[in-house]
Amino acid sequence: MRVAILSRGPRLYTTRRLKEAAEQRGHVARVLNTLSFSIEVEQEQPRLYYRSRELRGYDAVIPRIGASITFFGAAVVRQFEQTGVFCVNPSHAISVSRDKLRALQVLSRHRVGIPKTVFVRNPSEILSGIERLGGAPVVVKLLEGTQGVGVILAETTKVAEAVIETLSGPAKMNVLLQQFVQESRGRDVRALVVGGRVVAAMRRVAERGEFRSNVHRGGRVEVAHLDDVYRATAVHAAQILGLRVAGVDMLEGRDGPVVMEVNSSPGLEGIERATGVDVAGEIVRLIEDEVLFPEVDLRQRLTLHKGYGVMEIPIAEGSLLCGKTIGTSGLRDRDVIVLTIQRGSLTIPNPRRDRAIVAGDVLLCFGKNLTLKSLAPPGRGARGVRRKPPRRAVAVARSRAAGRSHG
Ligand SMILES: Nc1ncnc2c1ncn2[C@@H]1O[C@H](COP(=O)(O)OP(=O)(O)O)[C@@H](O)[C@H]1O
Ligand SMILES: [Mg+2]
Repeated sequence: MRVAILSRGPRLYTTRRLKEAAEQRGHVARVLNTLSFSIEVEQEQPRLYYRSRELRGYDAVIPRIGASITFFGAAVVRQFEQTGVFCVNPSHAISVSRDKLRALQVLSRHRVGIPKTVFVRNPSEILSGIERLGGAPVVVKLLEGTQGVGVILAETTKVAEAVIETLSGPAKMNVLLQQFVQESRGRDVRALVVGGRVVAAMRRVAERGEFRSNVHRGGRVEVAHLDDVYRATAVHAAQILGLRVAGVDMLEGRDGPVVMEVNSSPGLEGIERATGVDVAGEIVRLIEDEVLFPEVDLRQRLTLHKGYGVMEIPIAEGSLLCGKTIGTSGLRDRDVIVLTIQRGSLTIPNPRRDRAIVAGDVLLCFGKNLTLKSLAPPGRGARGVRRKPPRRAVAVARSRAAGRSHG
């Protein structure tokens, strides 16, 4: 395979390790400076130029997009996608995860712990926002900060107000107000997710007198042995955001993991040194897998037929489907295919005929829109996802493609 690593720093630890890991496994790897690309958009002829020459012949791209070039970087990745090159993380997922508010908004629909967060524009809304967070202390953060810069602990409401007004005043920066997860005491967990699995995890412990555990803020790093809940949360968060490779940062909250941010270009130095795991090698293995069994984009394929769509159907107590199995439900006879069953925090992909349907399940179904609507309870119950089925659906397609069956 020919692998392109998009990075502005060929000498950086992570870039070097990825190149080395690809070469070790017999691939050709080249580090390309993201900013030296030129994107050419023309009908049915998407092209990419690198240092003024057309670039072709790559099988896969590993994007390492820094926060300061998110927009251009994501556009370059998107162009690779248009030319049919496999990108380890999709451009859309990179943009969403980079924006802390957007990422939390997307996560908030799912069963994933997140810190309660408030976003306001009008200064008159600040006070009531802080009150709804339970009062000071609160964390104030810049929407697109990294490395702990722009993350401030405001001990009192007055300080919080002053900080927000300063940041969002003439400088016009977007700031979030966030509930302070005090019990995590300056510690957080970073889980490295690669292809639906946590391959390594570390705990970062903040310096004395500091609540931010970022290594750039003097935090120290140790191996973390995560339990199943933390692992499942990390994998779930990465999946929801559509990232195949992600550094999921979690606070250790009173009631379990609290996902703070999900990084689409996680650095490997700290985590490889702390755990001894060859994360770069895992990423290359993932690429080998995916290039062999390409993922189908269900968003595009399933909804091309007019009148067909994907819908989430919640099963209420007393519903006609409740207590039946997939086989006896009659869904198949009505041309409805159940892609997944969501049961609490468990996702059952590709459920078999003998799988029972129980109250509280949410069935992700594909079929005729009219039929799906007739199955859904009236009101707010069902969620049509015609334009954009959840990432889970994509995962189903993949496991089918790879010949695995579940349920
Ligand atoms: N709501 C919070 N409660 C407690 N600690 C937090 C909270 N938000 C951030 N922190 C601490 O501050 C650090 C930096 O915050 P984070 O949102 O990850 O910003 P950055 O993108 O700059 O790393 C985290 O690693 C964590 O240690
Ligand atoms: Mg962070």
